[in-house]
Amino acid sequence: MPADLAHDWWKSAVVYQIYPRSFADSDGDGVGDILGIRQRLDHLERLGVDVVWLSPVYRSPMADNGYDISDYCDVDPLFGTLADLDGLIGDLHERGMKLVMDLVVNHTSSAHAWFQESRSSRDNPRRDWYWWRPARPGHRGGEPGAEPTNWGSAFSEPAWTWDPDTEEYYLHLFDAGQPELNWENPDVREAVYSMMRWWLDRGVDGFRMDVINLISKVVTDQPPGLADGEVGGADGGPIDTMRYGDPGPYVLNGPRVHEYLQEMHREVFAGRPAGLLTVGETPATSIEQARLYTDPQRGEVDMVFQFEHVDLDSGPGGKWDVVPMTVRDLKETMGRWQTGLADVGWNSLYLGNHDQPRCVSRYGDDSPEHRAASAKALATVLHLHRGTPYVYQGDELGMTNAPFASLDDLRDIESLNAHRSMLARGLTHEEAMAAILTKARDHARTPMQWDAGEHAGFTTGTPWLAVNPNHQEVNAAAQVDDPESVFCHYRQLIALRHEEPAVVHGDFTMLLPEHEQVYAFVRRLDDTEVLVLANLSSREVVDPGDLGHGWDDAELVVGTAGRTDSQGRRILGAWESGVLRRRG
Ligand code: GLC
Repeated sequence: MPADLAHDWWKSAVVYQIYPRSFADSDGDGVGDILGIRQRLDHLERLGVDVVWLSPVYRSPMADNGYDISDYCDVDPLFGTLADLDGLIGDLHERGMKLVMDLVVNHTSSAHAWFQESRSSRDNPRRDWYWWRPARPGHRGGEPGAEPTNWGSAFSEPAWTWDPDTEEYYLHLFDAGQPELNWENPDVREAVYSMMRWWLDRGVDGFRMDVINLISKVVTDQPPGLADGEVGGADGGPIDTMRYGDPGPYVLNGPRVHEYLQEMHREVFAGRPAGLLTVGETPATSIEQARLYTDPQRGEVDMVFQFEHVDLDSGPGGKWDVVPMTVRDLKETMGRWQTGLADVGWNSLYLGNHDQPRCVSRYGDDSPEHRAASAKALATVLHLHRGTPYVYQGDELGMTNAPFASLDDLRDIESLNAHRSMLARGLTHEEAMAAILTKARDHARTPMQWDAGEHAGFTTGTPWLAVNPNHQEVNAAAQVDDPESVFCHYRQLIALRHEEPAVVHGDFTMLLPEHEQVYAFVRRLDDTEVLVLANLSSREVVDPGDLGHGWDDAELVVGTAGRTDSQGRRILGAWESGVLRRRG
């Protein structure tokens, strides 16, 4: 059967995420655009990826770089035109690749026509498309403490903003410019589904669904219909739950979320030819919940992005409470998800995206000595797990965090808000900056490093966010023809997934779970066994234990698998990684 016709074709696929603002700028305004992407498709084809996930290019005031959408059916002039996007879809299809759009429907921009109507009067037919509530009884609207609930938001302190014209508050779990849509209202849901059908009819191949597990809220009988959250409790995310109530229990994986996703599946995807992909972004989601979201029998989504492994370095105070993490923690988490979704559902595999610091700086060692080897080791481990791997732009080059020095170097609303919030909580500027410079999303958003030239070949103008000065060493031009490069390592891993069914369907057994440096596992399908060995540390490992026993004649398919000393002990160099295969 041609791969396209299998309903689970995405099991052997690799997805590449493009953050359009930072990928390639064709017109010199310093911001990436769709034509820029179209000029760089050779890079993706060479890498061998199957699908492109494009972060939002829709019309937007850009409060959150496009995750605040004011028109779902048009392209923002900053990125080009709808015709450019049609061109990109055509180009990708011609090269045998697919395009998955970002779908941001938990909220719209406050500039969206729906919200403009909704806020125009209390009896507007679209009033109920968003969450409007009166001030807390006994309080004057607009004054601190008058918010309908005590919830904090991710990007702008209280989760409610007062509208003086209609004298009610509206809810936003992110920035004030990102009002929450009210999915309880069936007209909202139908409007979203109809927009999704419009995109599929236009040729896109699926959606990555932004914070899709937030669309159902816990509605109570008591006014205001939503309950206060716990203050001082734990929140894995960016919300300041020391000063605000935690909305988590009332908005994450809410009571109707599965009903909505099943309805969406019926209304949008059912009956269409196979070949589409749906992936939900689901922060704070357990394995049990992920099994429900991704069980094909239930008809919800193909896979979800879980957050446990990217929350390992968050302490009880949330994202900005940075704590150390170990290789053991990473194995424990990743291994549990491998087991948890072994019989039902499917994993998505990622170490980085536009919301996370660069994976080589976070899980690897980005010093010049170890950067390339650690980028390869992390990729080896990730791509050999069972699930669909996602490559975030630039990770295939081993791009690192940026040397940001001050708040002025940053652009992201989340970081700027976090700084304000931490100072309000009594932290010093230095303490706040230490956390922000570790976790800032802008680390992943510096321009793509195409070559060693000015602005890394990203733009002829002034880039919207400074190019990392290490582009002189770390860039695509220096890597694509070098068989030892990070890029060529990624290419081999992607090709291996395409060729070797054991990588796609094989079962997963973690080895040496307690080892502090080595990440090793076996994938097995019928008579094929694949052994993955990686030293995830900057120190050599001598004799990691009963590893690789009986693999002496195995075929080395990617990387290197250590050497044996005179006493027959296996030695893995710093960040050394490899994949071995044996049959029979
Ligand atoms: C998701 C996006 C992130 C955005 C947020 C609000 O987490 O990945 O970039 O800021 O949702 O839309």
